[in-house]
Amino acid sequence: MAGMARPDTDSARSVTDPYTLHNDVSLAVHNTLRVRARARQLAELKDASRLPELLDKLDAPPLVLGQGSNVLFTGDVAGAILVMGTRGVQVEETGDGACVTVAAGESWDGFVRWSLAQGFAGLENLTLIPGTVGAAPIQNIGAYGVEIAEFVERVEVWDVRERRAMILDKAACAFSYRDSLFKREPDRYIVIAVRFLLPRVQPLRLEYAGVRQELARMNVAEPTPRSVAEAVRALRRRKLPDPAVIGNAGSFFKNPLVPAAQAAELKRAYPDMMQWPAPDEQVKLSAGWLIEACGFKGMREGDAGISERHALVLVNYGHASGEQLWALAKSVIHGVQSRFDVTLEPEPRIIS
Ligand code: FAD
Ligand code: EPU
Repeated sequence: MAGMARPDTDSARSVTDPYTLHNDVSLAVHNTLRVRARARQLAELKDASRLPELLDKLDAPPLVLGQGSNVLFTGDVAGAILVMGTRGVQVEETGDGACVTVAAGESWDGFVRWSLAQGFAGLENLTLIPGTVGAAPIQNIGAYGVEIAEFVERVEVWDVRERRAMILDKAACAFSYRDSLFKREPDRYIVIAVRFLLPRVQPLRLEYAGVRQELARMNVAEPTPRSVAEAVRALRRRKLPDPAVIGNAGSFFKNPLVPAAQAAELKRAYPDMMQWPAPDEQVKLSAGWLIEACGFKGMREGDAGISERHALVLVNYGHASGEQLWALAKSVIHGVQSRFDVTLEPEPRIIS
């Protein structure tokens, strides 16, 4: 995997600073919505063993960032930002797969591509999700019918409150749809590394709408994990705007979960409304459908907009401030609430 080396063989690392620390730093390159906020302090950690020392040098407990692909800064940050820039992977073979421990700062998609090249299976539906490995457990990233919770064995963290390193097993992480312990206790845990259990053989997951059709279009008769990844990449490139071209944070809203009775009532009133069964007698609605039905898709206020390609994606056409983007998001929430009596929640972390 590009950029990924085992810590004990990474000779370049020994000549690199274990961390850097700067004052009054622009966050424009640290968030994919391209908001031009600033932070009073910004540290980047390269060597995880020096984290406690670095934390002591910061004015306040930091806000941790990976690649900033799921955050919205609504103003400047008065405190410190800690960017996880650690690298490394360790592989322990088991009989039919491996335990793979990956440093928080590694690229998520780099790791997925590396795992497929090594002959592991399971992560193929999760290809092309931006961000770092350390951020992946925060919202239990998911796509095309798979969530990382299935493959996480444990998460190595620094507990900021207790000032000690800890290992949280999967149950302790309390993963659910776009949620986890980490999301519920923001700023308490700094993810240092994630340990995955990766199988060599795993049934393919082709049920998500569009995957089989994409494989057929590619003339793939006998799909493999690598061809499924290719199909998912093609689907994602078609559906979602590229943050390198236009600022965005992927889905800006979570798909809402509502009680089954409310879903049934909505279905009677709107027979073409998208709905999927969810745990605990709830039903998942399509936030994209709800937003499009309210007429917000493709709308624009100054440089803040709702993507023409996908109604769930808030976009920055250039110079929108975090406040302007958040104001537009709130008008979408209000519109959906008034029309459908359904409350949309933002997916990214709103940092004010
Ligand atoms: P950041 O945005 O830097 O941080 C996100 C949150 O995690 C913040 O609360 C931050 O404080 C916290 N955090 C980050 N690193 C750490 C750490 N080491 N320790 C503790 N806390 C930490 N998400 C999906 O689930 N599925 C998708 O299909 C998907 N598609 C996307 C498509 C696009 C085009 C974009 C821009 C985003 C998409 N996302 C998707 C959202 C995003 O990719 C994920 O949430 C990703 O995990 C964020 O990684 P990051 O490193 O950029 O995290
Ligand atoms: N839809 C619309 N209008 C739109 C977009 C979607 O009506 O503009 C409806 C369509 O009916 C479509 C359905 O919504 O069939 C589902 O759309 P899509 O497959 O794009 O999935 P999604 O529910 O909108 C979720 C995740 C994505 C993830 C995809 C694929 C959330 C909040 N979003 O989107 O994750 O990539 O499924 O699994 O769960 C992210 O979290 O940032 C993200 C991009």
